[in-house]
Amino acid sequence: MCARVGNSKKRIDVVVNGENEKLEFDEGESLMAALRRAGYYSVKNGCSEGVCGACNVLYGENQIVRSCLVPAERYEGEELTTAEGLVSEDGELHPLQEEFLNYGAAQCGFCIPGMILSGVQLLEKNDDPTESEIRSALKGNICRCTGYIQQFEAIQAAADQMRSEGETEARSD
Ligand code: FES
Ligand code: FES
Repeated sequence: MCARVGNSKKRIDVVVNGENEKLEFDEGESLMAALRRAGYYSVKNGCSEGVCGACNVLYGENQIVRSCLVPAERYEGEELTTAEGLVSEDGELHPLQEEFLNYGAAQCGFCIPGMILSGVQLLEKNDDPTESEIRSALKGNICRCTGYIQQFEAIQAAADQMRSEGETEARSD
């Protein structure tokens, strides 16, 4: 249950990146604002209008939400993943993060967390996407640096890397 914590502030209990978290927010405030207030700065405010995908957050069963568009209140009890949560406990980057660096796809970096989460969502459903499937998965992510080609290549490379790691693990079982 969403709790009222004084004046206009409210609070929800959620799980963010595997950790229990209490998110505080003002009445009617977005999930994006609540996450950023709690220190999840990978959730970027690109447009506040649901257009750019910079504020993407994964939730539930591999779903993505543009967190600037939804009231925080609606996410009580949800499991949320932000780009911070893709890094392992020992600091190892997710293959997608690694390949974005390898391919010089990070550019200024602003839109990248949202784009990487779109890539994670895609690779969960499809471990060997074609270029057109990658383009389609990223069509809601707007990059003002405009270098989309490296980003498509990075996702393809991460898919290859993840498949070959999966095959190696399967062989050693
Ligand atoms: S900030 Fe949410 S879609 Fe642009
Ligand atoms: S990398 Fe700069 S906005 Fe996309």
